[in-house]
Amino acid sequence: MGARAGTISIRGLSKTYATRRARTEALRGIDLEIAPGEFIVLLGRSGCGKSTLLRALGGLLPPSEGDVLVDGRPLYDARGRADDGALGSLGFVFQEANLLAWRSVWRNIALPLEVLGVPREERRARAMALAASVGLEAFAEHLPRALSGGMRQRVAICRALAADPSVLLLDEPFGALDAMTRDEMNLMLQDVWMRERRTIVLVTHSIAEAAFLADRIVVLSPHPGRIQRIVEVGYPRPRSATTMREPAFHDLVDRLRLDLGEG
Ligand SMILES: Nc1ncnc2c1ncn2[C@@H]1O[C@H](COP(=O)(O)OP(=O)(O)OP(=O)(O)O)[C@@H](O)[C@H]1O
Ligand SMILES: [Mg+2]
Repeated sequence: MGARAGTISIRGLSKTYATRRARTEALRGIDLEIAPGEFIVLLGRSGCGKSTLLRALGGLLPPSEGDVLVDGRPLYDARGRADDGALGSLGFVFQEANLLAWRSVWRNIALPLEVLGVPREERRARAMALAASVGLEAFAEHLPRALSGGMRQRVAICRALAADPSVLLLDEPFGALDAMTRDEMNLMLQDVWMRERRTIVLVTHSIAEAAFLADRIVVLSPHPGRIQRIVEVGYPRPRSATTMREPAFHDLVDRLRLDLGEG
């Protein structure tokens, strides 16, 4: 991994979904430079194109126009196929953990390493270390059905980190969790990020989550999805429950509410 690994450049990106019945212009003219190790949050109302943008960044959805570069290399070729090397530097987490029910926690985490042909002992050691890093050491041999929703999302995050990606992409990873678990998960994710400073792009429609986690918040407006505003979040890290009681946090939340038309 090079010193600048984890750079993402989005240039003039547009995406129109065309079905037999309709064309939906989901994104128009998105330009964004994401620096290595930066924590970016994509914030916007339902349907404004957050998932579309994240999938385009992740090699899952070729744009209609424009380019995505990962570490300076085009992510898609002329036929819209994602580059394998670039894909290898990206890790994905979705709202549902999508764990394999018959595999233990550590064997779920180790799945990407199995695909890469890493020997079993090494896979196990890496998976156990990841599980321990999110407080799941005692659950490594458990099956997913024995875990809470928050624990399953921890496993999903570990699995996304297993192959050591330089970029972690998360789409509403905590959207299905209760508020208290969600706050805990935000602290855990900040921890994971502060330890290794991979680039993170996280999609949410929670204003508080965005204000708590981000270095920069990219506010998207809908129909078609465009960048409405980019907000730098200045307060120091590590952020904690105290951060959420400070005036700067509340000012930011108020301003984001106005941006999203909730003021
Ligand atoms: N596969 C698809 N085919 C056609 N239209 C789509 C498809 N996926 C998304 N869209 C449309 O593109 C627009 C953006 O959708 P997208 O899922 O990116 O929004 P989102 O911001 O992630 O919303 P949510 O917060 O509800 O997840 C919406 O109008 C949606 O209906
Ligand atoms: Mg979405």
